[in-house]
Formats: sequence, structure tokens, C-alpha cells
Amino acid sequence: MALSPHSDTLAIILAAGLGTRMKSDMPKCLHEVGGQALVCHALSAAMAVSGDRAVVVGPDMPKLEKAVREFDPEAVSVVQHDRLGTGHAAQIGLASARPHHTIVIVTFGDTPFVQAETIERAILEVRNGANVAVLGFRAEDPTGYGRLLVENGRLVAIREEAVASETEREVSFCNSGVMAFNAETLKEILPKIENSNPKGEFYLTDAVEIANAMGGNAVAVEGEESEFIGINSKRHLAQAEAIFQSKRRDELMDAGVTMVAPETVFLAADTVFGRDCVIEPHCVFGRGVRVGDRCHIKAFSHLEEAVLENDITIGPYARLRPKAHLKSGARVGNFVEIKASTLHEGAKANHLSYIGDADVGPAANIGAGTITCNYDGFVKSKTIIGAGAFIGSNSALVAPVEIGEKAIVAAGSAISKDVGDNALAFGRAKQSDDKLGKGMGSKSKP
Ligand code: UD1
Ligand code: CA
Repeated sequence: MALSPHSDTLAIILAAGLGTRMKSDMPKCLHEVGGQALVCHALSAAMAVSGDRAVVVGPDMPKLEKAVREFDPEAVSVVQHDRLGTGHAAQIGLASARPHHTIVIVTFGDTPFVQAETIERAILEVRNGANVAVLGFRAEDPTGYGRLLVENGRLVAIREEAVASETEREVSFCNSGVMAFNAETLKEILPKIENSNPKGEFYLTDAVEIANAMGGNAVAVEGEESEFIGINSKRHLAQAEAIFQSKRRDELMDAGVTMVAPETVFLAADTVFGRDCVIEPHCVFGRGVRVGDRCHIKAFSHLEEAVLENDITIGPYARLRPKAHLKSGARVGNFVEIKASTLHEGAKANHLSYIGDADVGPAANIGAGTITCNYDGFVKSKTIIGAGAFIGSNSALVAPVEIGEKAIVAAGSAISKDVGDNALAFGRAKQSDDKLGKGMGSKSKP
């Protein structure tokens, strides 16, 4: 189904929870799956169906707000100062509703896999006259979820586990937390939600019974359990990561990426590959990695925020850190770490090197064991290596320093002064080769 965002629809994403069960100082919805905050996964589905978004965050969650801002600059963050429950949070989000919003959807920032197409089905129910449409799923183990009580095709109530009877607990049809509302109905319902339950919280789930009591019409729309996993603990987070990885590998293989052992490859939500790429076993792609055409990522390589243009081979055991940029035909071999550096066309660093804050010219060759000494304990400085330069093995390039085009640096050099174009630089003690005298043994050896 081709989706386009509805300008009459406001999405409220609830993400103010502390996530006590995560046992973490970090807000729950900032935890990541596939290198992307949970709240951003939820936002991505909401963005596909809604014209406007309000994210309800807790007080003192600047990092969560920043993640929201970066992912969806059009979303507004609204603060829920006292976390009094999902009903209360929805009310705070509803302050962002404008007269043109005739439909409001509520989703949870801790429920990352909900598909836009599925939310669209709930929106359609509301367009067709329902006051509330709730997305539900048949749970293999419903423990912890609110249960959807359906009678004669009508959604009668949502019962939170804490207040459910024995029989109600046996119901396996569960509330995903995603709901679509007629905006007018929601405005009437929210002030009517009470907190007379053991936890003293305002449950959004009470909206269904209230809508029915007002003579409204509530429906349940069923989706797949795998879409609706809500993350409340570190175990859930790990389960969600496994689901995400498996799905992402399949998507990329379907798009033509070759993976020798897909189950050992870890990807981020935003990893991009061109055509005819091969990924060997045990590679990790952190966020922000873009790989062009015909690239070969050999085993045990680790990449984050790196750009690989076309026809590039890296690894085995390559480490590309943020702002590593490899231009077409560059080669990075084993045990080479690259950070904030560009390797221009055809440049090579094949063995055991650290290249940080450097610009390596086209076809330059970085010998084994070369280190750019980019940090003096106070500031980071740049190393510039000219086109076609040859850096001999085990050299230390002490930045800031510039090596000219086609210059040669002798192996084992420590270079702290610029080297001109076509120059041969020695930066090491001259080898002496004295004849050992008669009777010289270990005693007189220098
Ligand atoms: C909720 C639902 C439950 C459903 C389950 C699906 C309620 C009362 N319960 O339970 O029926 O089966 O999700 O995963 O709605 N939040 C706020 N402010 C608050 C409280 C929560 O923003 O005051 C946010 C949380 O950050 C979270 C979401 O709302 O993203 C859901 O809250 P959570 O406490 O995780 O609810 P569950 O117990 O999982
Ligand atoms: Ca939850």
C-alpha cells in the first residue's frame, strides 16, 4: 500500500516513561535497536501516516528530545512533568492538536516495530465511523499486556492486567498501545479518565469503556504479534534487537547484498549498500554507514559513521570510525583503524595502522605500522599526505604535518616537519655498521 501522510492526522507518541524495569539511568525510549533510539522507530511509522507529531517526553530528558529533533525536525516535544499514566500523557500531547486535526493516533515510544500500513488500517476504521480503533494482537504469552475484551465484534473494554479477573487474564488478545481516535471524541474522553486503580495511574486504555458508555463505537484491528513487541526490560531489548537484525538482513539480501553468514552480521537501521556488495562473516555496522557499489567487507570489520564509495575492499579486521571516508578504489587492510580521515582514490593502508584526522592523497601508500600522531594531549591536528606519496613501514607522522606529493618517507621515521614534493625524508638514526673488534663480545657491545 502506498502511504502518504494525512494532514488531518496528529500522532502523539508517548515516551515520557522512565522505564524503571530497564534498570537504567537513561530514558527507556532512548535505548537503541539497530543503532536507532526506540522513539525514532516509533516516529518513523508515525511520520508515514500523520501530518503532525507531538512526542511526550519526561522532564530532564534533553538527549531524548535531541534524538527526536534530529530524526523528525517537524515533531514537537512536550513535557509531561508528573508521570501519571498513559491517559495523562495523551492529554498532554493533545494540547498540540489544531482544529484541522480530525484524527489523533496515539503510539508508544517503547514499541518500535509497528508498521505504518497497520496504523493506516486503524485510521481507516475511524474514517469509516469508529470513534476509537485499537490495534491488537494474539500474544503467545500475554503476561503484562492489557487484554482486549471483544463481544459480538465490538471492542467492549481494555483490561489492564493489574485489574483483570482470572477469566479476563486468560484472554490472549492484547492491546498494542496503538490507537486511532476521532479527535472530538478523544477531547471528550480524556478528562473523564480516572485513576482509581491500584497504581493510581490514568490509563489511556479506559478510553474504550468511556467511548462505549458515551454511545460511541470502538473496534479492534488485529495485527501480527511481531509488530507489537513493547520493550520494558533489557531482555525485551535484546529480543527486539534479534528481530530487527533478522529482518534487516533479509531486506538487504533481498536488495542484492551478499552475506556469507548473515546471522553473524549486525546492521543499523540506516545502513545503506549499493549493488554487488559482499559482506563476510562477523561484521558490525554501526549507525551512519553508507557503502557504494562492488564493495567487499572482509570478516571481523567494524564500521560506524563511515562512507565507502565504489570498488573498495576493507578488512579482515578493519575498523572505520566516524567520518572515515574511503573514495573509490581505496584499500584498507587488516588491523587498520581510520577516524575522521579521507583516503582518496586508490590510496592504500594495508596493514596495522592508525590514520586519524588525515587526508591521504590519491594512490598514496601507507606502509605497515604507520601511525598518525594526531593528538598531543591537548589538541587534535591534521596530517596531509600528498598524491602518490609512499610512507615507509613503522613511521610516526607527528601532526600537524604535511607530506608532499610523491614524497617518500623512509621506514621507521618519526616525521615532525613537513616533507616537500618528491623528497626522500629520513627521520631516524642512521644505521652504523662498525666491524666488531677482536675479542669483542657481549661486554663491549654498544
Ligand atoms: C501499556 C498499556 C497496555 C499495553 C502495553 C503494550 C496502558 C495503561 N497500558 O502497558 O495495555 O498492552 O502498553 O505495550 O496504556 N508513558 C508516558 N507517560 C506515563 C506513562 C507512560 O509517556 O505517564 C509512555 C511510556 O514511556 C511508554 C508508553 O507510555 O512508551 C507505555 O507505558 P508503559 O509503562 O510501558 O506501559 P505498559 O505497562 O507496557
Ligand atoms: Ca511498555
